[in-house]
Amino acid sequence: MTADELTITVLPGTTKSGAKERFDRVDIRPGDTISIVGPTGSGKTALINDIEVFAQGDTVTGRRILVNGELPPESFVRDPSQKPIAMITQHTKCLADLSVRQFLDMHVRARKNAVPQIAEEAVALANRFTGEKVAGDDRMSSLSGGQTRSLLIADSVLISGAPILLLDEIENAGIYKDEVIKYLRGVNKAVLFVTHDPYISLLSDRRIVMRGGEVTQILVPGDSEKKALGIVAEADALLSGLRERIRSGETLKEAV
Ligand SMILES: Nc1ncnc2c1ncn2[C@@H]1O[C@H](COP(=O)(O)OP(=O)(O)OP(=O)(O)O)[C@@H](O)[C@H]1O
Ligand SMILES: [Mg+2]
Repeated sequence: MTADELTITVLPGTTKSGAKERFDRVDIRPGDTISIVGPTGSGKTALINDIEVFAQGDTVTGRRILVNGELPPESFVRDPSQKPIAMITQHTKCLADLSVRQFLDMHVRARKNAVPQIAEEAVALANRFTGEKVAGDDRMSSLSGGQTRSLLIADSVLISGAPILLLDEIENAGIYKDEVIKYLRGVNKAVLFVTHDPYISLLSDRRIVMRGGEVTQILVPGDSEKKALGIVAEADALLSGLRERIRSGETLKEAV
């Protein structure tokens, strides 16, 4: 099976109050960009967690995950190097006492078709997403939350090659989300963004809305939100500019 043929299907489970979820199914294929929105505590992280563990009715939600319409192959669950999913969470922190270089080299060796210089490319890519740069001899455990997430995104795209990427609130890591999204849309991955950010939500092709532990809507806005996207993009660019100026120590005498 090649990555292009991979379809992950989410089948309904139960809501927080134990009722049956009313959606039919969600199919996820490489190239899809999907955002997951909903209030705090509505079950967004639980949903991507179901996907990452290939739930079979054995998580709090009771959902089931299929791979190409069938039970996931044993190797996906057992062997991390075969797993087609990379998840970057709200609390990602690397505990291994390795340098960035050692960490990436370890992944390169685990993937037979990865070339050694790809580790350097991964650091360079991560540094497109971060304010303060990551160096090859930094300790993984000393990287900030945002640096760690940037590196793991670069690692998952360039080295691990996982065709499906689950990102939990990357906007809160303070990384350059525009750069991340632009980059991820250019590679043939399925990307699921859990997000509270209107700009990220509007950039995706499909939007899953959650409430009370339930998938309540699966929206395909198409062109209907184009105008809103323009306005949100402008507002977001204004805010990003202000954020950068504040982060660099400026006093904002003028807002724009
Ligand atoms: N369908 C469900 N059935 C039972 N429990 C659920 C269900 N969905 C989520 N939960 C539980 O509800 C709690 C909140 O869910 P979760 O952490 O996924 O929320 P969230 O939407 O990611 O919130 P935040 O925006 O704060 O990150 C968790 O303890 C989770 O296990
Ligand atoms: Mg969450």
